[in-house]
Amino acid sequence: MFKKSLIAVMAASALALTACGGGTQAAPSGGADKKIVMGFAQVGAESGWRTANTKSVQESAKEAGIDLKFSDAQQKQENQIKAIRSYIQQKVDVIAFSPVVESGWDTVLKEAKDAKIPVILTDRAVDSADKSLYKTFLGSDFVLEGKKAGEWLVAESKSATDTVNIVEIQGTTGSAPANDRKQGFEEAIKADPKLKIIASQSGDFTRSGGKQVMEAFLKNNADIDVVFAHNDDEGLGAIEAIEAAGKVPGKDIKIITIDAVKDGMTALSAGKINYIVECSPLLGTQLMDLAKKVLAGETVPERVVTEETTFTQEQATKALPTRQY
Ligand code: AHR
Repeated sequence: MFKKSLIAVMAASALALTACGGGTQAAPSGGADKKIVMGFAQVGAESGWRTANTKSVQESAKEAGIDLKFSDAQQKQENQIKAIRSYIQQKVDVIAFSPVVESGWDTVLKEAKDAKIPVILTDRAVDSADKSLYKTFLGSDFVLEGKKAGEWLVAESKSATDTVNIVEIQGTTGSAPANDRKQGFEEAIKADPKLKIIASQSGDFTRSGGKQVMEAFLKNNADIDVVFAHNDDEGLGAIEAIEAAGKVPGKDIKIITIDAVKDGMTALSAGKINYIVECSPLLGTQLMDLAKKVLAGETVPERVVTEETTFTQEQATKALPTRQY
């Protein structure tokens, strides 16, 4: 399908310049059967979600016949910027990346734009005011995810007569999912004045981070009713800390997480987590499709939102046998 559109584009112009979204981009040169080269700058390997996302991107690139150059930034923005600069130098056809934090991307994105290399944001957003610096943003609605988590807690706490003390384990500081999930959750729990966030700290989206933060919360707060962890891995770390403190996760302290990876779903099915809001890491196929469209000069939507659901204990038990990740 790509070959067809590429041939059409190349026939239309010897220079093979195509207009896509916010600017003019050079289509891949070197013949109609030249493979698209995509440079992908991944955040890291901090969570089960990220591992599944990397697999999805790598497998989908192979299926789509796209030559993927992949780099792992180990959760450091400077590494992602270096990777993007190296993709620009290598003159890849398209750059895709999942920005570790929201701010600080304008300079490097401008460099990509000046080199006429289209950029696709995947999973996480940037806060750049200049929307022409990227072609589209594919990923979840993180505010909605936080909202769903908060709404479940509001319903669950209806019969409570006392204050419900919540501790929040945030994701990576400054990242879109941490900012947005916090916002959505806080908005939702406003509906019930009994619900109070008594402590909030970053666990950096890792299991070890979640465990450490929860240990500190347990030391400093005698009466914790609920943990809201921004991802499954942090929630799983919190479970370890709660059990080590002699309490029963899911009963003495309720746990809400986001992601729905296999380990999280297993803990939910076992009653150690009480509710999970899904965040799908399976973005690979859509990403490759968008890349092909952008390079073929087709108009793509500026935002593509992933479809997601939520899981109770029963729903997790049902879904687990066929869960892909
Ligand atoms: O950006 C998506 C988030 O990043 C996932 O919820 C989390 O597990 C990951 O590390």
